[in-house]
Amino acid sequence: MNFLNEIMREYPSAISFGPGAPNHAFRDDFSIPECLACFEEHLIEQTGCTAKDASNLLYDYGPSKGILNRLIADALAMDEGIDVAPSSIVVTVGAQEAMALALRALFRSPRDLLAVVTPCYVGIIGAAKALGVDTVPIDETDNGLDLAGLAGAVAHARSQGSNIRALYVAPDFANPSGTIISRSAREQLLALARKENFFIVEDTAYAFTAGVPDPTPSLKALDTEHRVVQISTFSKIGSPALRVGFVVADQRTRNADGKDEFLADALGRLKSMISVNTSPICQAVAGGMLLRHGGSIRALGRAKADFYRSNLQALIDALDHKLSPLVAEWPTIAWTRPEGGFFVRLKVPLEVDLNLLRRSAGEYGVIWTPMVSFHPAGGGRNEIRLSCSYLTREQIQVGTERLASFLRAACASATQGSDP
Ligand SMILES: Cc1ncc(COP(=O)(O)O)c(C=O)c1O
Repeated sequence: MNFLNEIMREYPSAISFGPGAPNHAFRDDFSIPECLACFEEHLIEQTGCTAKDASNLLYDYGPSKGILNRLIADALAMDEGIDVAPSSIVVTVGAQEAMALALRALFRSPRDLLAVVTPCYVGIIGAAKALGVDTVPIDETDNGLDLAGLAGAVAHARSQGSNIRALYVAPDFANPSGTIISRSAREQLLALARKENFFIVEDTAYAFTAGVPDPTPSLKALDTEHRVVQISTFSKIGSPALRVGFVVADQRTRNADGKDEFLADALGRLKSMISVNTSPICQAVAGGMLLRHGGSIRALGRAKADFYRSNLQALIDALDHKLSPLVAEWPTIAWTRPEGGFFVRLKVPLEVDLNLLRRSAGEYGVIWTPMVSFHPAGGGRNEIRLSCSYLTREQIQVGTERLASFLRAACASATQGSDP
């Protein structure tokens, strides 16, 4: 990912299908002073404190578990019927901190393994690596994940004296695949987690892009046994600059001293030693955003989902138009048609590496992400990820034309056995 940023800096006129960033069209939605004022008013109303106290609260250290917990608990209840106490929620420095905290708290023995639905988000692979947690890839399928493969991995781990402690999955329009896991696959996954006794770490970063009144329920909404640790973020639905995410951790676990406690308490304690607390100012801005949408995360997302879905459709249409002529010559070229999320995956008859990316950027003015980074155990060598979330329609058109020119040249040279 750092390499991608470097390339974007090096070739500023290239159109980049690289970052999964929200669109700047929504910048005006998000007035920091108005959001802060809205949250301060809410505090005064809720607690009866003075305006000065409300403002002081935002400019000071805060509780490690956060100051948005009740708002988030109410939003989860209103949006999804999830019944969770505010004390079971920890507001984190983005989803990334939530991932690191959850892994640190849940994984205590080197024999504990993290299964990851693959291809998967690089942030969880990175957090697992940084914490010395070994991962086991589980294949994604068209409408879910390879449940038989997961059951096999659980049995195999056990036969080796280790243990699948948790599975990481982003069931709604995953990054990078855009896959949505069907309701029945979600139910089967929960049944397997119950039978085999593992946790599920659910990442809902792109769920808001479903944009329908009645989306597939989250794993947490279907979870009757506190097996699901749900991680969410305001980065895509709001702004990544906020660095505000949260984790719902309402399960009882045994701590290092052998005492039972709520996972959220363990996460809060860990957080107090890592980032102390999430910036109250940033939390207040995120809280203000929510309050301005009736306190509903779903309503906050609904205002943006249509935009992202039509950008995605514009990219798919452009690929249909510009790349179909290439398919006649190179039939392995193929692209996905997700119905939500920020990403399309493109298969190409090329060995995709950073050198190829540099040529694409330098000679054709188009940047994309190699898929190898999303495969912890190897794979994805002939695939690229295209993100369209922060581009304009015009950039999508021009970028796809450039991509088609690049692919034509690169595939022709590869067919002739020389470099493009
Ligand atoms: C699936 C997924 N989860 C989480 C994140 C990052 O969240 P945050 O910015 O809150 O750390 C991303 C960002 O790309 C993502 O794609």
